[in-house]
Amino acid sequence: MARSILELRGLGKEVWRGIEAADYVRTERESWNDRMSPLDEAVNLLDLEEPARRVLPRMAYDYYASGAADEITLRDNRAAFDRRRIAYRVLAGVGERDLATTVLGERVAMPVLIAPTAFHKLAHPEGEAATARGAGAAGTVMVLSTLSNTPVEEVLAAATGPVWFQLYVYRDRGATRALVERVEAAGCRALVLTVDAPLLGRRERDVRNRFHLPDGLAVANLLAEGYGALPAAETGSGLAGYVSDLLDPNLTWDDLDWLAATTKLPLLVKGIVRPDDAVRAAEHGVAGIVVSNHGGRQLDTSIATLDALPPIAGALARRPGPAPELLLDGGVRRGTDVLKALALGARAVLVGRPVLWGLALGGAEGVARVLAMLRTELDLAMALAGARTVGGITPDLVVATA
Ligand code: GLV
Repeated sequence: MARSILELRGLGKEVWRGIEAADYVRTERESWNDRMSPLDEAVNLLDLEEPARRVLPRMAYDYYASGAADEITLRDNRAAFDRRRIAYRVLAGVGERDLATTVLGERVAMPVLIAPTAFHKLAHPEGEAATARGAGAAGTVMVLSTLSNTPVEEVLAAATGPVWFQLYVYRDRGATRALVERVEAAGCRALVLTVDAPLLGRRERDVRNRFHLPDGLAVANLLAEGYGALPAAETGSGLAGYVSDLLDPNLTWDDLDWLAATTKLPLLVKGIVRPDDAVRAAEHGVAGIVVSNHGGRQLDTSIATLDALPPIAGALARRPGPAPELLLDGGVRRGTDVLKALALGARAVLVGRPVLWGLALGGAEGVARVLAMLRTELDLAMALAGARTVGGITPDLVVATA
């Protein structure tokens, strides 16, 4: 059609060649797009969510994506990164960069770990085993959730890198102790105690969807103790019911001492946003603190983690004695986010939801790709900010916008 009109109008050869080239580019791109998976097409971590949403059942996508109530904290975790700007350094000789660091003495290829998230078999049949392989391929730590669909022993058998274990304390302390023993025996290298979830935050998407685990999926680590099933969710989120029935909402600082005495593993607490709580955790001898608000899934309108970080880092620095290592999660999507968190006092960050999108789209390979993309972005951000090493990411690099 286009050709005949052009010919009728007697347009010159050059114009026609241009049209042909445009057609060629369009058809090539279309067939290229047909061949490319969403993972290949993604240019950054943010690109992955929409294709993951399309492949996941609604209940699973909403469970992973949602935050509590109005999801203000969910959004603010990200917005807090955008409120900071980078005052980059020039002529810093950045031809060779080194992204490697250590967390709790563990060597990692970059200061990015996989955050604990629950129920990976909602995303991919290989579940947490695939996530662990993806983490290993990226040379970093996976933090495995208590609420995994794969038993810790199977995850460790599949893992090609270090695995830490996120712990929920059950009302049944015998079951909790037995779980900690299994986690140690399986080869996990640290325990990450979640302290921001005495009850589950109200994630309204889960309430509407009556969130539950499909037949065949369980809280695999607790099957032996009889706590493998979520209760029927006739009136709301089955996970909220599970947490209020089985997890201990009465935890206090004394329980941290109980846990420290129960395990040989280094202990981190996850879910701290206040300097006084961070100092208290340090006084209790924890090895690490994860500045976290549970990805905005617990108390809506709680402070964004990047805003919480500097006062916590300051309070720990002023306190005599060895300081726990500081990690941060919540809203990390860009290499520049990682750089900002490190500049403001984190030793490393953890990434949750994008890993699930990668898992949904491509199993272990998808997880590895997510981490590789973030690594590439961090590498570029370090080069452009004048930091050759992770140690060169100093506080002066980041300023707040008005
Ligand atoms: C589990 O820890 C969740 O936040 O859903």
